[in-house]
Amino acid sequence: DNVAKKRKMYEDFLTQISILKDMDPYERSKVADSLKTKTFSDQEVIIKEGEPGDTFYIIIDGNALAIKDETVIKTYGKGDYFGELALLKNQPRAATVKAKDTCQVVYLDRKSFKRLLGPIEEILHRNVENYRKVLKQLGLDTACIEGN
Ligand code: CMP
Repeated sequence: DNVAKKRKMYEDFLTQISILKDMDPYERSKVADSLKTKTFSDQEVIIKEGEPGDTFYIIIDGNALAIKDETVIKTYGKGDYFGELALLKNQPRAATVKAKDTCQVVYLDRKSFKRLLGPIEEILHRNVENYRKVLKQLGLDTACIEGN
């Protein structure tokens, strides 16, 4: 059936995502079941800085850029994730993320993110330190990631 097909399609892919690799396989299959997919065209805005956010994304094909104050702060490719910060910290989006060429993503809404990625929340939180370093290095304001 459809559920089995989808699970099979995403299960292997999810083992290649660095933050999801250490997850229990059963938990990972639950993530696979909940993913939805969407395609963005070149230059299309996926996330807009300053807006409220309810979605967590993983790229399955193509590339994207994170931009803050007109500066590129990160480039993304297949297997990379973004949009976790607004969900972890209940804050507005810290940066804009834009598709670079056609970009296909899978995504989770806030509820699924909290329920399914709870076990790796700590790992996601730890990565925020890297964001801070990047912003400081580029001379950008770190206020967007300070709260809790
Ligand atoms: P969020 O704030 O939800 O939306 C914008 C996303 O950009 C953010 O989550 C992170 O996933 C991503 N991002 C990439 N680099 C940085 C950075 N240096 N600081 C903050 N967010 C970043």
